[in-house]
Amino acid sequence: MQLVSGARMAASNLVDFEEVSYLYPGAAVPAVQNLSLNIRQNQRYALIGRNGCGKTTFFHLINGLYKPQKGVIRWKENPLKYDRRSLNQLRQQIGLVFQNPEHQLVATTVEEDISYGLCNLGLPESEIASKVQQALLDFDLSDLADAPVNFLSLGQKKRISIADVMVLQPQLILLDEPGAYLDPHQVRNFQKILISIQKKGSTIVLSSHDLDFVEAWADWVFVMDEGRVVLEGSPGTVFSETEKLNELGLGLPLIYDLMNSRSDLDGNPANLNPFNEFRQRIRDRFWSGEKS
Ligand SMILES: Nc1ncnc2c1ncn2[C@@H]1O[C@H](COP(=O)(O)OP(=O)(O)OP(=O)(O)O)[C@@H](O)[C@H]1O
Ligand SMILES: [Mg+2]
Repeated sequence: MQLVSGARMAASNLVDFEEVSYLYPGAAVPAVQNLSLNIRQNQRYALIGRNGCGKTTFFHLINGLYKPQKGVIRWKENPLKYDRRSLNQLRQQIGLVFQNPEHQLVATTVEEDISYGLCNLGLPESEIASKVQQALLDFDLSDLADAPVNFLSLGQKKRISIADVMVLQPQLILLDEPGAYLDPHQVRNFQKILISIQKKGSTIVLSSHDLDFVEAWADWVFVMDEGRVVLEGSPGTVFSETEKLNELGLGLPLIYDLMNSRSDLDGNPANLNPFNEFRQRIRDRFWSGEKS
């Protein structure tokens, strides 16, 4: 098992953090501390950790909203530059869906909001129109196309904020608690879109408190605490660390809880067989049998 990364350097890394620390103005303790990790291309990453552990701060560091006081952040091996032009270029490649959709929506109506990024890319009008129509359909927003954004519910705003980013098909998509505020139907719809956008080549990093989803969906899980990555690995590796996850107050996905309830299974994920049918049902909720 690999505790704390740094070593998984490869030519295809999209993002590298090297000993990165970030202190909010006036704060006594850094929100992110000596953080080292790598994000590789076309993988599904989940970031978990209790409230205040630094997930949102981490996302804001990747897309250059915050500049670390210490350490280096690299995008495709080049250290981030913080002038306006470099940041604009970076944000065409990295899309961030904010935890709070109200911090993200910029236009008056839903349709305008979804077109905003596409217009900034300078695409032809006909292409913008067809992409926006498709996004409205994908996110079940067609009936709200002309609705004023300000008057919508938080769940509706969250869907618009996800659509705003997905429609641009950035190389790296950062989703800060994308399931927050969504009803169960919209969560499943979002998960289908997530699968299709990754198939088109985007790399995805999302934070979530839904450990069943993380277990079924992610290739790689980062566990954060007090601004650091304290554990990382495949879901099988991470969720076998029962004691550590309990210490962090995170608990376990249901399937691991069930496995641990059977003392004869030794807490070994290789022994999940008695629960395979049950496990498959949980996975089907997220994958509809399509995991590649
Ligand atoms: N603008 C700010 N000024 C000062 N401190 C901040 C600010 N924003 C966040 N913090 C602090 O930084 C730490 C990390 O916050 P962050 O929002 O990154 O956590 P998080 O893991 O995203 O939490 P959550 O699960 O609640 O979304 C917390 O201790 C928080 O209080
Ligand atoms: Mg957060």
